Amino acid sequence: MGLHVAVLANLKKNASHYDDMPVDAWADLDSEATIQAIVAALESRGHRVTFLEGNLSLVESLPRLRPDICFNICEGHWGDSRESHIPAILEMLRIPYTGSGVLTLALTLDKPMTKRVLAFHDLPTPAFQVFECDDEPCDPDLVFPLFVKPSREGTGMGVSAQSIVHNEVELRERLSEQLARYRQPILVERFVRGREVTVGCVGNLTGPVARRVPADENAPRVTGGLRFFPPLEVDFAAYPESEGGVYTNRIKTEWANDFHFLCPAPLPANCVAQLEWLTAAVFRVTGCVDVARVDFRLDADDGDKPYILEVNPLPGLNPTVSDLVLESRAAGWTYEELLDAILQAACRRHGLPFA
Ligand SMILES: Nc1ncnc2c1ncn2[C@@H]1O[C@H](COP(=O)(O)OP(=O)(O)O)[C@@H](O)[C@H]1O
Ligand SMILES: [Mg+2]
Repeated sequence: MGLHVAVLANLKKNASHYDDMPVDAWADLDSEATIQAIVAALESRGHRVTFLEGNLSLVESLPRLRPDICFNICEGHWGDSRESHIPAILEMLRIPYTGSGVLTLALTLDKPMTKRVLAFHDLPTPAFQVFECDDEPCDPDLVFPLFVKPSREGTGMGVSAQSIVHNEVELRERLSEQLARYRQPILVERFVRGREVTVGCVGNLTGPVARRVPADENAPRVTGGLRFFPPLEVDFAAYPESEGGVYTNRIKTEWANDFHFLCPAPLPANCVAQLEWLTAAVFRVTGCVDVARVDFRLDADDGDKPYILEVNPLPGLNPTVSDLVLESRAAGWTYEELLDAILQAACRRHGLPFA
């Protein structure tokens, strides 16, 4: 017997407009096509599905609707923890939901805080500094070229070839422009020259998790319970040089329907195993559940050593263009199977019956 599932999302078309909006504002919110696909996929599995916009009206509508579970993909609108707002409401209403919880979504939206957690666990992430004004002195350990991006955005917002800066003048220019545009601390990282891959997974870790990597680092103990999809590599050779070999906002939005990628990425088996281990380790230490996607750059100047850029506990679920969906398809999964696996993982966690 199917469940009553409430799909919660923030539609781009419902987002408000405000003065001085960045040109790429709301790029991370969802299209109607994505919501329709999610609803249809869940219905095809025999569930009763209702879509609701993720805003404060849920406080009244959800207790009336009484769904068994919410399929949450809300990115939120305002504030430095916006992705955690709807999960916080759902926890107050005591309604189960798919995907990561309040702390994980607040943490991972903040790239510098996430990097501090990764560094604490000796997980490789590029050296960095956070700037809250454009004249803060630069850490002498940071060596040009550097990469400049907002701390708390997604979908390549603020990311273009101009994010790569080669000297102090370019850095200061870029910082003042991004501070003014995004009104948040700006993250400056060592620029990792090399290939770009992203690894998605579904499921939940088995055995003790405790948000740490087990001391023996034995691979099955670290990765157990997760199903990894083949790594997807962005095919930069197919894009004009003007994109700078970077997975830009333009590639992710304007050009999304003509995405050039390799999946499975042509990587040696030991490299894939290492990426899976790192993905599981990131999933663990940031407290992800049910689904996530981890973005990497492979350092061409250091034998393709993988560096973790960020973790996405709410990876895009557009049926035709999203990385996670393309990866699951390369593994032979249909879109329905992918959504089913996410829902099933959540139902197991919550002790809900799942047909
Ligand atoms: N330190 C870095 N070195 C090289 N490229 C980077 C670096 N940080 C980000 N990028 C590029 O910018 C893209 C977007 O950065 P990411 O941190 O994944 O943010 P988003 O949340 O927008 O996906 C990456 O996919 C990559 O192409
Ligand atoms: Mg990314």
